[in-house]
Amino acid sequence: MTEIKEVIINKNTELSPIWLMRQAGRYLPEFREIRKKNPDFISLCLNKDLSVEITLQPLKRFNLDAAIIFSDILMLPYALNQKVEFKKNYGPLLGPINLKEIAKIDEIDFVQKILPVYKAISLVKKHHLTNNKSTIGFVGAPWTLLVYMINQQSPKKKLKENFFKDDFLINRILLIIEKFLKIHIKNQIDNGANIIQIFDSWAGLLEEKDLPNYIYTPTLNLVDYVKSLNVPVICFPREIKNYKEFCEIVKPDAVNIDYNVNPKEISKNIKIPVQGGLDPKILLTDKETLKKETIKYLEIFKDHPYIFNLGHGVLPETKPDMVEYLVKTVKDYK
Ligand code: CP3
Repeated sequence: MTEIKEVIINKNTELSPIWLMRQAGRYLPEFREIRKKNPDFISLCLNKDLSVEITLQPLKRFNLDAAIIFSDILMLPYALNQKVEFKKNYGPLLGPINLKEIAKIDEIDFVQKILPVYKAISLVKKHHLTNNKSTIGFVGAPWTLLVYMINQQSPKKKLKENFFKDDFLINRILLIIEKFLKIHIKNQIDNGANIIQIFDSWAGLLEEKDLPNYIYTPTLNLVDYVKSLNVPVICFPREIKNYKEFCEIVKPDAVNIDYNVNPKEISKNIKIPVQGGLDPKILLTDKETLKKETIKYLEIFKDHPYIFNLGHGVLPETKPDMVEYLVKTVKDYK
């Protein structure tokens, strides 16, 4: 069994596996090299061979315990025929939503549109660099995808006015998202993904009263679905106010925490395996600070099943050398 699965399934506290969100990305010069020649991000995600190469780049450099497939959560609206673009230094920009058009899409059209993603997973899984390591598939959570699809760009700190105005549209879209997320998850697993992570990057935007409708119920449906396929599922409800309540209701196999929560409180209150937490900005400081902060998390979770990761993705300004030092610090700890 891979180290990450040992932690999640057998609750092993002797191991400290590590992987990083956005471990394949702009902080690596070899990624930027490929990116320069491929200005269209979606086409890059759909280039099976380059996607495999990018996925494996961090594994060639660092002793990481997982490969996470190079793709994006916004491949889902893309496969539903909503226009998705990545504007330089701005982030994603989506086209308007057309319910009638989206309602016409069937499973075959959807899978056809993103087939290279599944082929890339299958090649990554078979590659010798992932022997004895986990291959992580992922999706955006229904809420976060709804945010991008309706808001048409990152909401930063707030949603556009009247976001919730069209109740009918929102509830229809949520159901469509859920249906196609299941298809997307199933295809990733059938092609070799052996862990699924659900990214709910905008969970923190909701008021408590809206959590059951937009987060708990749709995420629970997905979590139950992944479990039914016998694959562990990790949830990352970023900046949700109450991680404990989330875990008790949604019951993922593990939970990734953000860097604004107190890890001590989490280790005390949450029983399931925990992943992540370290502020990615710490990687922009110096080795001494990085070591101190890394050991802090390892100590707090010493007797808790714990997978080392960050509280959000690796920042583009990060020096690869600091990532190497982080991985080494974690690996030397136990
Ligand atoms: O290494 C990995 O983690 C795997 C690949 C991965 C990417 N995006 C590649 C990517 C994963 C797991 C994601 C998830 C994702 N994408 C999330 C959830 C996690 C989070 O960051 O909160 C979200 C919200 C997105 C949507 C998205 N994609 C945004 C907002 C942006 C632009 C901002 C940014 O950080 O660049 C992207 C682009 C993106 N996705 C890049 C990468 C490597 C950068 C693309 C570039 O080279 O310009």
